This record gives sequence, structure tokens and C-alpha cells, in this order.
Amino acid sequence: MPREVREVVFVDGVRTPFGKAGGMYAETRADDLVIRCIRELVRRNPQLPTDRVDEVAIAATTQTGDQGLTIGRTAALLSGLPKTVPGYAVDRMCAGAMTAVTNVAGGIAMGAYDIAIAGGVEHMGHHPMGEGVDPNPRILTEKLVDPSALVMGATAENLHDRLPHITKERTDRYGLNSQLKTAKAYADGKLQPDLVPVALRSSEQGWGLATVDEAPRQTSLEKLATLKTPFRPHGRVTAGNAAGLNDGATAAIIADEATARELGLPVAMRLVSFGYVGVEPEIMGYGPIPSTEKALKKAGLTIDDIGLFELNEAFAIQVLAFLDHYGIADDDPRVNPWGGAIAIGHPLASSAVRLMTQLARHFEEHPEVRYGLTAMCIGIGMGGTVIWENPNWEGAEK
Ligand SMILES: CC(C)(COP(=O)(O)OP(=O)(O)OC[C@H]1O[C@@H](n2cnc3c(N)ncnc32)[C@H](O)[C@@H]1OP(=O)(O)O)[C@@H](O)C(=O)NCCC(=O)NCCS
Repeated sequence: MPREVREVVFVDGVRTPFGKAGGMYAETRADDLVIRCIRELVRRNPQLPTDRVDEVAIAATTQTGDQGLTIGRTAALLSGLPKTVPGYAVDRMCAGAMTAVTNVAGGIAMGAYDIAIAGGVEHMGHHPMGEGVDPNPRILTEKLVDPSALVMGATAENLHDRLPHITKERTDRYGLNSQLKTAKAYADGKLQPDLVPVALRSSEQGWGLATVDEAPRQTSLEKLATLKTPFRPHGRVTAGNAAGLNDGATAAIIADEATARELGLPVAMRLVSFGYVGVEPEIMGYGPIPSTEKALKKAGLTIDDIGLFELNEAFAIQVLAFLDHYGIADDDPRVNPWGGAIAIGHPLASSAVRLMTQLARHFEEHPEVRYGLTAMCIGIGMGGTVIWENPNWEGAEK
């Protein structure tokens, strides 16, 4: 059967406000957060005939309890999508939603799907990191990886060891800037349009409504310098230069470009290439560097072609490792213009669609930029990068 590769586009993305683990979503189910996102996508894209959705891929790192039961399928059903719409669950830890997007993108490119919904959730309050894991003892007895590889904060300390020129003062300054940029983005009303309000129920406080992220905070370099280093005595990684423990969900509509245009759906970004790689697990934060090399090579681009970056800030040290590798300044305005996970939060498997949703908004504001990039480090030593093209690029042939 003759085939042609089809263009894959990011139509629209939304997310719940991100909560602190044990905070505003303590009594909210993880799957309900996903359902809110899917329902919002359908509400704000009334041109989308829901029976045309070919797949719902939802990621979660811990796939038990309210994140279990093949969450893509159950969330699709509970969102009111027709029973004929299938769904499944995805896991690649922090890059779960990224993998959900690239999985369905592969299906769209080869013609298996026209339209899909992809996203992720992590309720780190209900499912603390590492809950219920049973690592194969060979990992330790055969020294396949350093035991520190299983504790993400310890891998960030390891990365500091390898890159001693990146000082704690620099990572703290990066963390402070993330907070300042997010505060400005909120003040300018940049983040709010893609947040889905979530009804809250608390047995102590009654009903409420989540409309903004819970984690961002005011801070200072002086205060940051005093924080404990929980992963190593006299270490460098603190709560101020690392993403926190968070609850939240994201979802996006991904489509074949011709189908999107036929239905009158917006085309916010065009997928150019993606790459995943493995690195030494004990320095997992290094992952986005080789994954970006891979994605750039596949696209026939260089880093100089990238005009906007949405990098997941699992830890300041890993973002700074990336920026140093490419000779980009710590405060380059092309990088995370609205701050990042250090301020906003990082509910593991959900985060990539937040990066993509924000990049899509930056593309609207920056028609002079042709290409943008979303990248993140991934547990057990991986990196993932997706390169996107701006359909509003002013240099495009009309
Ligand atoms: C770093 C980490 C251990 C901190 O957890 P925590 O101790 O529960 O964090 P808290 O929010 O309670 O912050 C600790 C302290 O720092 C303070 N603090 C946190 N962020 C701050 C900031 N930006 N400015 C000033 N103070 C801050 C808190 O007020 C708290 O102070 P207290 O001890 O006086 O109450 C946790 O967030 C973590 O593990 N992060 C990494 C998550 C991760 O690995 N994700 C996957 C990536 S691959």
C-alpha cells in the first residue's frame, strides 16, 4: 500500500493549575484532573467532532489507584467522549506526556490516526515518587547503575560533581529567575488562558476552585542560600533550585494538518522532529543535550536555528548544563520566557504538554521565530527533545 508521511500539528493544549503535593488537590482524584483537561479541550474546540478522535494516550509514572486502570481509556470514557474512542496509558517517567504526543504523532504521520488527544498526569501527593517500586536486585549487585541513579535529586548532585564550574550560587540565581519570570507571566496574564479551573473539595475547608498554580513563591538569593540540601550533606541541590513535588494534569489535541484545516481547528505548531536518548543513569539531567543533538540532526537543523526554548526545569543544574553546552546565557530571553518547573511545578508525566502549550503561545507572539524546541531530562538516564515549527512564521510562503 503506497503511503506518504503526513504533517503532524499541535492544535491546542491545556492544563490544570499545578498543586503542591498534599496541597489543594489532596482530596481530588488524579483521573479527575485528566478529565477536566479533556473536557476543556472539547469545550474550547467545538469544531472537533468527538467521534473523530482516534486515540487518547495519557501518561502517568505510577499506574495504580486513581492513576491506574489504563487511564487513557477510562479518562476518555469519563470525559464523555464516545465509547468508540479508544485510549491507553503511557509511561516514560517525566517524559510521559512527551512520549504520548510523539507516539500519537507517529500514528498520525503514517495515517493510522487523524486526530488524537495526548497528555499526562501525576498526583505526587497520592503517589509519592518511587512508591511501590521493586528494582531488580541485579541493578545493585551487578553494579549496572550507581544506586544514586534511582534518586533524582542525587543524580542532580552527581551532575554538579561533573560540572564543578556551575556553582550553587548560579543554580540559585537560575531558580530565583524562574520565580521572577513566572510571577511576571502571571501578572501579564500569559499563563491563565490555558489553565482549566478545577473544583476542589476539602473535608476541612469545604469547596473551592483552583485557578492558579500553588507552588510559585517570592524568594531572594539570600533566602535561597540558606536552604537545606536534602540529597547530600553540604550538597548544592535545594528546594529552591529544583522542581518541587506536585499534582497536575495536561492534555493536547494532536492532528494530521490536513484534517485540522478541514475541520477548522487551529494549527498552533507543526512537529518537525523528535529524539530520545539514554545517558548514564546517575547523571540523568544530562539527557536533553544528546536528545537535542539527535532531534536537530534528524531535522537537518542546528541549535542556531532554534528561536525559542521550553526546557523542563527538573533541576537548575541540568538546565544550566544544557545552556552551557550550547553557549546560551543563563538569562537568555529565548529560554523559558515565562519561567519553568522550578516555579510552576513538575507533576512528572504531565509536564511536557505544559512546555508545548507554552511554546505554542510564544509562537503566536513571535512570528519572527521559525523553530522552537521542548526538551526534558528523564529518570533512569534519558533525555527527550521535540522540535516544532511556527505556522505563524512570517517568512513562510503564503
Ligand atoms: C527538593 C525537595 C526534596 C524539597 O522537598 P520539601 O522539603 O518537601 O520542600 P519544601 O517545599 O517543604 O521546601 C523545603 C524548605 O525550603 C523552603 N523553600 C522552598 N522553596 C523555596 C524558595 N524558592 N525560596 C525560599 N524558601 C523555599 C520551604 O519553605 C521549606 O522551608 P521550611 O523547611 O522552613 O518549612 C523536593 O521538592 C524534591 O524532591 N524535588 C525534586 C523532585 C524530582 O526529583 N522530580 C523529578 C525530577 S527528574
